[in-house]
Amino acid sequence: MARTSCVSLVFFLHVVLVFPASTCLGLSKSKHSKKHHEVAFFIFGDSYLDAGNNNYINTSTLDQANFRPYGESYFKFPTGRFSDGRLMSDFIAQYAHLPLIPPFLQPGFRHYSSGANFASSGAGALVETFQGSVIDLKTQLRNYKKVETWFRHKFGDDEAKMRLSTAVYLFSIGTNDYMSPFFINSPIFKFHSHSQYIRMVIGNLTTTIQEIYAGGGRKFGFINLPTLGCFPGLRIIKAENNGSCLEEVSSLAKLHNQALSKVLKKLGNQLKGFKYSLYDLNYNLRQRTIHPSKYGFKEGKSACCGTGQFRGVFSCGGKRIVKEFELCGNPNEYVYWDSFHLTEKAYKQLARQMWSGEVVSSKAMGLYNLKDLFRDL
Ligand SMILES: *[C@@H]1O[C@H](CO)[C@@H](O)[C@H](O)[C@H]1NC(C)=O
Ligand SMILES: *[C@@H]1O[C@H](CO)[C@@H](O)[C@H](O)[C@H]1NC(C)=O
Ligand SMILES: *[C@@H]1O[C@H](CO)[C@@H](O)[C@H](O)[C@H]1NC(C)=O
Repeated sequence: MARTSCVSLVFFLHVVLVFPASTCLGLSKSKHSKKHHEVAFFIFGDSYLDAGNNNYINTSTLDQANFRPYGESYFKFPTGRFSDGRLMSDFIAQYAHLPLIPPFLQPGFRHYSSGANFASSGAGALVETFQGSVIDLKTQLRNYKKVETWFRHKFGDDEAKMRLSTAVYLFSIGTNDYMSPFFINSPIFKFHSHSQYIRMVIGNLTTTIQEIYAGGGRKFGFINLPTLGCFPGLRIIKAENNGSCLEEVSSLAKLHNQALSKVLKKLGNQLKGFKYSLYDLNYNLRQRTIHPSKYGFKEGKSACCGTGQFRGVFSCGGKRIVKEFELCGNPNEYVYWDSFHLTEKAYKQLARQMWSGEVVSSKAMGLYNLKDLFRDL
């Protein structure tokens, strides 16, 4: 855009005054050299984005995916990602011309100028969510603060501030806060109404955003929650449901998504320079579940890896509570990889939309897609 207006200005000046365009060229050159540093990418949240942090914490295989057949389609070895291959954040890094962003806890990882991945499978916005087995959002933020300090030491205060303010911060969080009470049979909803509980989840996410903003962060990407009750792993937890979606969890996700849109709008009005993208994962995943063939899949409801009805039993890899599992022949035919997670092919389609914001989702995307956020310096 800047270039077009510059060219037309030069043209105008030439015609009218036959004036050398050095001022204009000088301006565009200095603007260009400012863009030279790479845009850092920081990733927070749960298993939809965790590239392997849980490999390095004391947890159980329920929150780990560092065994076969995880990773088999792309990496050819299990990296800790809950998929057969890459995650949405891996594709986003690729579209932004960045290397794959390593897990913060990966031994030897110390150079953070391209960013870091703090996400932890099983994590929620509430510290109580799978407490003791995951890196909760508060701890993820504490880890990010260490990286902030690294930027200041490495680049000095001014350049660190500039780099942190042009960086993109991506979040996927909430799913585990709403699912965990159903797995551990928690009485939490006897003490809190649904709307109180949602306020706590959103409140803790908001605090995290505000702290990153206070440290200089300006550009945020969010992914809303899928229709959780339709995960293969949730269709099967109440036998009397006959395999239909578990509405109580889905309705929590729906209310959360409404509250999320609202709070982001509010932050956009309150915080100067705050820019965000909000990807409608809910709509776009639902479409693929209902009309798999429209998107190049054969199966939208059952998982590729697991056992029982819909392969919804969380046994992929045979290292969890149930040891028996089946694996489909071709993960590319499936939307769901295991009871709760998607195949690389599904993640790739969603990441593409999140990046360039094409197709039907545009109305729910906030004012920007991720490409806009990465390119706006
Ligand atoms: C890891 O967790 C287990 C189970 O919670 C616990 O018994 C053990 O002491 C922990 N180990 C370390 C090194 O923290
Ligand atoms: C954050 O979550 C805790 C429970 O883990 C809750 O007590 C607190 O009120 C929440 N904070 C906000 C700002 O909502
Ligand atoms: C579940 O399926 C069985 C057998 O198909 C049927 O008899 C029963 O009425 C169904 N229950 C519900 C709640 O739909």
